[in-house]
Amino acid sequence: MKTLRLNGSNAEDVLLAASLLRDGRLVAIPTETVYGLAGDATSEAAVGGIYTAKGRPGHNPLIVHVKDGTDARHWAEWSDLAESLAQSFWPGPLTLVLPRPRGIVPTVLAGGDTVALRAPAHPIAQAVLAVCGCPLAAPSANMSNALSPTSAEAVLDTLDGRIDAVLDGGPCQVGLESTVLDLAGDRPRILRPGLLGAEALAQVLGFTPAVGTGEGSTQVLRSPGQLSRHYAPAIPLQLVDDPFRLAGPRDAVISFTHEDKQVAFAAVLPPDPKEVARLLYGTLRAAERSGATRILMTPPPSDETWAFVWDRLRRAASN
Ligand code: TXA
Ligand code: MG
Repeated sequence: MKTLRLNGSNAEDVLLAASLLRDGRLVAIPTETVYGLAGDATSEAAVGGIYTAKGRPGHNPLIVHVKDGTDARHWAEWSDLAESLAQSFWPGPLTLVLPRPRGIVPTVLAGGDTVALRAPAHPIAQAVLAVCGCPLAAPSANMSNALSPTSAEAVLDTLDGRIDAVLDGGPCQVGLESTVLDLAGDRPRILRPGLLGAEALAQVLGFTPAVGTGEGSTQVLRSPGQLSRHYAPAIPLQLVDDPFRLAGPRDAVISFTHEDKQVAFAAVLPPDPKEVARLLYGTLRAAERSGATRILMTPPPSDETWAFVWDRLRRAASN
């Protein structure tokens, strides 16, 4: 299959992407978090194609992208709480897990009885949703277990030839995947941390939600993205306090301060967690592609503002 390169700032290309999606084809689209591999969430064939293209196990459900809260109501049981959260945080990097999905093909749900919905803030994603008129299942646009892509080039690294098109919308501004908030259980719970943290959600919920999949959860695989070894680079990543001291000429170093030492690759990250989130996957990808055999990285601070970055780093560094 030849993968078309489409330009998201060109209106004709956006229309073409939307019409491909309406025809059940697979198009990687930009969102503010990471690029998503989109397909019509009401088409069994399109959704099956997403799992095949990604090599994604069938027990891991997909996020469905909608335009807004009004759209979301068609596809699952909506509630006052969901409405308040959508009013405050949509469009944006928040995914809501809702009960009683309707009209979404069962494959998206991976056999579960809930659906994860998100209204993305990226204007190109919004334009595609408006034109194609169907909800779009879109997991991150990478082969399963590889790094999530934050640029069109990164999508093509693993999916070129496996999908119909990629719509280039430039680099993603958030850079890490959305916060997944479960509203289908007894009490709202964060299944996957993201830029939008527990304190921000507490403003609307009235209490700070728990984080994690929970002990004795009744669902077998409540949020499989939380399995370790997810979001991992192709070469080992080690978090070490003084990477330059340990590094040899074949190592990539990612740190917060520069040192003059001969290494295969060096990147200096800014001290702000939001900035690091935006840059992290692109930096890991560059390290991967540098020919280095290992990545040594300084761990970020351990306070709460870094929690969502830490969540991804822990997984990326596990083996
Ligand atoms: O930022 C994002 O969320 C990106 C962009 C493209 O929107 N999408 C994304 O999708 O990260 P994906 O498929 O790579 O991650 C989906 C996460 C996984 O952790 C999955 O287990 C969880 O959401 N998930 C999906 N449906 C679920 C459901 N019904 N119940 C619980 N977790 C669900
Ligand atoms: Mg993913």
